[in-house]
This record gives sequence, C-alpha cells and structure tokens, in this order.
Amino acid sequence: MTLENKKIFVTNALPYANGPIHIGHMVGYIQADIWSRFQRMQGHDVVFICASDAHGTPIMLSAEDLGVEPVELAAEYTRQHENDFNDFHVSFDNYHTTHSEENEELVGEIYQRLKENDCIRTEVIEQAYDDQENMFLPDRYVRGTCPKCNAPDQYGDNCEKCGATYKPTDLIDPISAISGKAPSLKESEHYFMKLTKFENMLEDWIETIDIHSSVKSKLKEWFDVGLRDWDISRDAPYFGFLIPGEEDKYFYVWLDAPIGYFASLKNLSEKSDLQFEEYFKDGSDTHMVHFIGKDIIYFHALFWPAVLEGAGVKKPDAIYVNGFLTVNGEKMSKSRGTFIKARTYLDHLDPEYLRYYFAYKSSAGVDDFDLDTEDFQNRINADLIGKWINIASRSSKFIREHFENTLSADVDKDLMETFDSGANEIKAHYEKREFGQSMRKIMLLADNANQYLDQEKPWIMIKNEEKKDEVQKVCTNALNMFLKLTIMLKPVMPDVASNVESFMNLSDLNWSNIHDVINDHKINNYENLMYRIREEDIERIIKK
Ligand code: 2FM
Ligand code: ZN
Repeated sequence: MTLENKKIFVTNALPYANGPIHIGHMVGYIQADIWSRFQRMQGHDVVFICASDAHGTPIMLSAEDLGVEPVELAAEYTRQHENDFNDFHVSFDNYHTTHSEENEELVGEIYQRLKENDCIRTEVIEQAYDDQENMFLPDRYVRGTCPKCNAPDQYGDNCEKCGATYKPTDLIDPISAISGKAPSLKESEHYFMKLTKFENMLEDWIETIDIHSSVKSKLKEWFDVGLRDWDISRDAPYFGFLIPGEEDKYFYVWLDAPIGYFASLKNLSEKSDLQFEEYFKDGSDTHMVHFIGKDIIYFHALFWPAVLEGAGVKKPDAIYVNGFLTVNGEKMSKSRGTFIKARTYLDHLDPEYLRYYFAYKSSAGVDDFDLDTEDFQNRINADLIGKWINIASRSSKFIREHFENTLSADVDKDLMETFDSGANEIKAHYEKREFGQSMRKIMLLADNANQYLDQEKPWIMIKNEEKKDEVQKVCTNALNMFLKLTIMLKPVMPDVASNVESFMNLSDLNWSNIHDVINDHKINNYENLMYRIREEDIERIIKK
C-alpha cells in the first residue's frame, strides 16, 4: 500500500470522558503518535485527530453520583485528557468531544442517509428494567449467578469464570447493579442497523484494507458465526443524542462515537483551511487510518464500515490494533499499586522514557506487552543515555574546548554510509509499525558510533598537538552520527530531538536530513539532554 501523494487522516480511539487516562491507554496513543510523526517527517500531509467519547450510561451514572451534569463531567475529563496527551507529546491536530454540535449534525445526516437507504428497522425487544431507578439496564448493570457454571456475581453479558455468553435474563437471581433490586422485564421499541445486509461487503472489504492477519482471523470467526443486526437505540434516561422524531430514545454511544472522528475533523476544518468533504466523501482518495485497542475490533471493523457504506461515506483504509499493557507481569491493579495514571507518571518521570520503552516493545501485531519496571529503568539508562546521548556528551566536549564549537570541514563518507543504509531499513520498520525493530536497529548503529569513539580515543589524541585536527574530525564524525540517530529517533523522542536541534544549531529536521552531512558548522554548548532514571523515580509511580 503506497501512501505517495495521499493525505493521511489518522485517528485514535476516543477515550471515555468519565475517568482518568492511565498508562495502558497510552500504548495506543503513543503508537499512533509515533506513526503520525514519522509520516509527517516523510513529508506527508497528516491530520491526526482525537476527541473525548462523552456519551453513554456509565458517564450519566457517574455524574449523578457526583451531583453534576454529565456534560460538565465530560468537559472536565476532556480538559484533563487533553493535558495528559499534550504532556506526553501526542501531537493531535485537533481534540474535540463527541458531545458537540458538529457531531450531532453529522450523526443526524448519517442516520438520515441510512434511513433513506433502507438500513434501519425497528423491533420491540424485552430488556431488564430497574423499577426503582425507572431505567432499562445495560447488560453490564445486571449481575447474578452464571447459568452455566454457577459462579456468583457475574455480569449480565458474560461470565468471567467460564467465559459463557448469555442474556442478562438468563442469569440466576439477577439484581440491578444500581439499586440492588431484582430487575423486571419490560418491552420497548428499538432501532436496529441492518448489519446483515452488509455481511458480503464486509467480508470482501477486509481483504482490501491494511489490517493485521491475526485481526483478520478474528473477523473471519465472526463471519463464520454470522452477523446480527445491531441495536443502535437506548431508552431514556440516557446521555446522548436524541433520535430525530423521538422524545425519549437516544442513539447508542457506539453509533455516535466513531462519527466523532469525522466531527473532530469537521471542527478542525472550521478553524483551518482543511477541506472536510475531501476526507468524508465516498470514493475519497485520502488515506484513513484508525488506531484502536483489541477490545473494540468489532465496532471498528464491522459496525463502523457498515454504517459508512450504508450512508455513502468513505471507509477506513487501515485499522491498526494494539494489545493491552501489563505492569510487572500482571494486569494493572489498584490494590497492587500498578494502576498508573498518566498524570502520576508525568508527575515523576519524563514522558519520553515511556515513549521509548513502548516503542521498543511494540510490533505490528496485537500482542499484549509488559512494562517491567526494572527492565524499563535498565533499558532507558542503557540505550538512551548509555548509547545515544553518550555519543554527544563524549564528543562535544572536545569541539567546545579546543575548536570553539566548530565542526571540521571533513566528514568520513564511508562511516556515514552505514547510517544512510541503516536509515532505509529503519524507515521500512516504522512504516510497518514495527517500532521495536526500528529501536533495536537504531541502537545497533549507536553501538557503532560508540565503538568508533572507543577506537579513535580522542581523549588520548588531544594530548598530542600534531593530532589536534584529527580530534576535530573524529568528533565531527561522531556528532554527525549522533545527529542521524537523533533524526531516526525523532518520531519517538520529539522533545529531546528538538533540544538536539538547538544544540547543533539546526531546525525542523526531517527524515531526508539523515543523509545530510554537517561540516564546517558552528554548534552550541552541549547541555545535558537526558537524565538517568533512578530506583526511587520508579518507586514513586508504583505505589504500594
Ligand atoms: O472503548 C472505548 O474506550 C471507547 N470510548 C472507544 C471509542 S472509539 C470511537 F469509536 F470513538
Ligand atoms: Zn460461568
């Protein structure tokens, strides 16, 4: 799949605006950001957007508990999330919310088109109802004993013990998780998206997009079972958009959430010269990429493209799925102190350490990966400080003390050749989101640069007046290698890279600058670019 001359539209799953961002969320955002930054550095026109996912029952109930309006709660979390992403250097071009005018308008338009194209039907269904709270209960809000294995206190949709899936009405002794009372059954008319109509289209379509083979296999399993029409309405009380023509029925949050991708883009188009229709129209030549977690594949690879097809809107070209994060080998847990909020991390550690570690651990597949805190500390200190930054700190000193911060005119072409060809390999890994491979290759090149300095020993040469020119050349070579490595790491380490640019008296370095030679050039005094992680820094984020 070539992206030559294509405008790229990148989205990341929209976080629910009813709780804080944790470092598990950050896996997907960091991966999407690295890829977006890399594509920008290739000279591509990238628009990377996000928004908060504001609607749904959980946020409505949280707001009720706190005695605030759902819209206020969503606004507060939207603000916090945006700050967290910013501080992790996630370079969204726009951050919006699904509870917006743009989204309401687009949802209305898409729904209207779906109706016109005979994609919507209604059906009366029976659902668990909480008579005390006067509300229908989503499956997750009914708890009871598993009808298969008798495990107590299971959710209404599936059993965590035996994995059985069932209807909440199948539970033994069900109770409402809200009032604690036994729910009754009540009928109501629901709107359905005729997903079944799209089964063939979807089966063909997943063969045309960029999606990992393991995700494709999962989708095939679902096709084998057969798709069912999708319930897109919820009865009041609900926090969401009213269905046109209804007074107490709302669109299900999962209908309006992905439309929020386009709504955020539209919001951006209102304040820039971006042409919204160019990305939205059916047959658009833009390249649309969704980064998502593995728990929401069904929504993005089945429901969402069906909605887009039914409404005559552009469908995604790629769906990139990430696995989950474990911390020290276990699921993040509050009681073990391994539930690490993005903000807690940011209060104690440099965001770029985590960006590097996640990159180092990332592949194009959907495997979970572990933040092993000891390995994290060692990896950062050994790779970033011991290998990469070390090159600059070792060589800049001589350039400052003996050559008034001026690089020599001579640069060793052969030496640079390894880096130039290495860059192509690294670029190919980045393109395929094999970030771990990119990082490993970059570190091998950093090893080369350090070995070069070890061999040449400028600290010994400098004692011999006749070898002085040689010292300038060696350190110039080393700083050129350091600069190339910095450009290769820039998608992952944008902030340090920008400090390196200032130090080396350069700016706005792009991927193609890897092949430049910097000679006869005045640089600035080297100032420490990164600090080692200490044991106590880690202890501060893992609260026992
Ligand atoms: O699973 C989630 O966290 C959802 N809030 C993701 C929504 S992604 C998109 F569809 F908006
Ligand atoms: Zn069970």
